[in-house]
Amino acid sequence: MKLLTTRICMYSDVGVHGSLFGGTILAWLGEAGTAFACEHCGSPRMVTKRISEVVFERSVKPGAIIQIYGKLVSVGTTSLSVHIEAHSRDPEADREELVCKLETVFVHVDGQGEPCALRWTAHKHGARARRVALVAPGPVSTFRAARIHPAPDSSATAS
Ligand SMILES: CC(C)(COP(=O)(O)OP(=O)(O)OC[C@H]1O[C@@H](n2cnc3c(N)ncnc32)[C@H](O)[C@@H]1OP(=O)(O)O)[C@@H](O)C(=O)NCCC(=O)NCCS
Repeated sequence: MKLLTTRICMYSDVGVHGSLFGGTILAWLGEAGTAFACEHCGSPRMVTKRISEVVFERSVKPGAIIQIYGKLVSVGTTSLSVHIEAHSRDPEADREELVCKLETVFVHVDGQGEPCALRWTAHKHGARARRVALVAPGPVSTFRAARIHPAPDSSATAS
């Protein structure tokens, strides 16, 4: 997984129980995941279609360092799925503990907010995606008539 961003839990981030508010950490995950998806897709127009079940494993107190990681899970015609995890990091012990994880589906949309084809292909099963601007953005119906070809040297760049 790739480290996407690091946050510190501030007093302004906690809820009535004195620990990090769930909605706040979800916003952090959403923002980090969206930026990650946009980067992979080569477009700023990625919208959230689906968020999986979220399980909060442990509470987070003010002052905690939160590392947010992500990895590409799958790629479709207009959508991609990203796995995102938040870990609480203790730099003194050099240890991290899982706080929560989720999967999000993002859809690439055009200027009118309609789904449009991703402009690149990716390796299967979460390896690093490569942008190959072979397919111009367009209506899904147009794009789906065409085949998505894997990048010729994809195996050489897998990580
Ligand atoms: C995103 C949106 C344009 C998609 O419209 P849609 O009618 O569902 O589009 P489609 O049916 O063509 O599906 C588009 C993609 O989403 C996927 N998808 C649709 N419903 C899904 C679901 N419930 N779960 C996972 N993926 C789903 C489809 O499989 C397709 O992916 P593919 O092209 O890679 O195969 C529309 O639902 C929307 O505008 N939603 C609101 C987005 C938003 O405001 N998000 C919150 C703030 S960012």
